[in-house]
Amino acid sequence: MKVFNTIAQMHEFSAEARQHGKPIGFVPTMGALHEGHLNLMRQAKEENSYLIVSIFVNPIQFNNPEDLKKYPRDLNKDLELLRTVQCDAVFAPSVEEMYPKTVTEKHDFGAIEQVMEGASRPGHFNGVAVVVKKLFEIVQPHRAYFGEKDFQQLLVIKKLVEKEHFPIQVVPCAIVREPDGLAMSSRNTRLSDEERAIAPKIYEVLSEARKKAKKLSPEALQEWGAEQLREEKSFGLEYFQLADDNNLQPVKSWSEQQGVLAFVALTLGKVRLIDNIRII
Ligand code: PAJ
Repeated sequence: MKVFNTIAQMHEFSAEARQHGKPIGFVPTMGALHEGHLNLMRQAKEENSYLIVSIFVNPIQFNNPEDLKKYPRDLNKDLELLRTVQCDAVFAPSVEEMYPKTVTEKHDFGAIEQVMEGASRPGHFNGVAVVVKKLFEIVQPHRAYFGEKDFQQLLVIKKLVEKEHFPIQVVPCAIVREPDGLAMSSRNTRLSDEERAIAPKIYEVLSEARKKAKKLSPEALQEWGAEQLREEKSFGLEYFQLADDNNLQPVKSWSEQQGVLAFVALTLGKVRLIDNIRII
């Protein structure tokens, strides 16, 4: 497994792989790897000749400086895990390597970035788009793998690929959960034991909401979900939102909808957690 810190080295590796006509599967991450990440990587390795993974805690997508400072980092442990999935090359650049100058690039994704995470975290998706565009240009993958855990991010990336005409297939991967239902996340390690015991309630409410779908109006279901989560006093609910799976706009009636997901964002102690489930 090769580990590259510079853009030039990473680019050279990819260019050579492409020359041999070998498909490259790419999984961008911010490290602190867990089974959710590894699952994306196993699929990428299976579907391509090369697996390339990036590890870069992207400062410009953090709207909260405390969250950036506390973001878990353990490169050596990550490299060990990457060997277990037969990763071919790891790109782990420094901030200076990626951003030698202040970033001024602006992207506009329209309505999909104005709701939920886009509304709660100003500048977040612009920061994600800037880094992913740059990573795509460096790594030049044939396929790139993204988790549905960050469903809104997945749609933003699909739109980025469309707008920039990147010849890259974006492959969505299902959410990987702990046995008790909590969606895996690098941030889960920052939960206290007590908070960790409460956290599965998020998935319980999402699962119940799926069962109740169509028995209640979308508006009533949204109210019900929000109330359930507010009952847990340790949760600081940001939103419980039903949204169209294509454009992420609010859902008014079931009959007009093809696909609907329920999305949650909340804080538990100092940790911000997100999750979602398909309702229809
Ligand atoms: P990060 O949070 O490290 O996640 C990397 C990838 O793993 C994302 O596509 C994310 O959706 C996926 N992932 C995380 N937890 C998952 C889970 N429980 N099940 C399935 N997939 C999961 O997302 C980012 O990094 C960054 O925004 C990035 C795209 C790397 C840009 O900086």
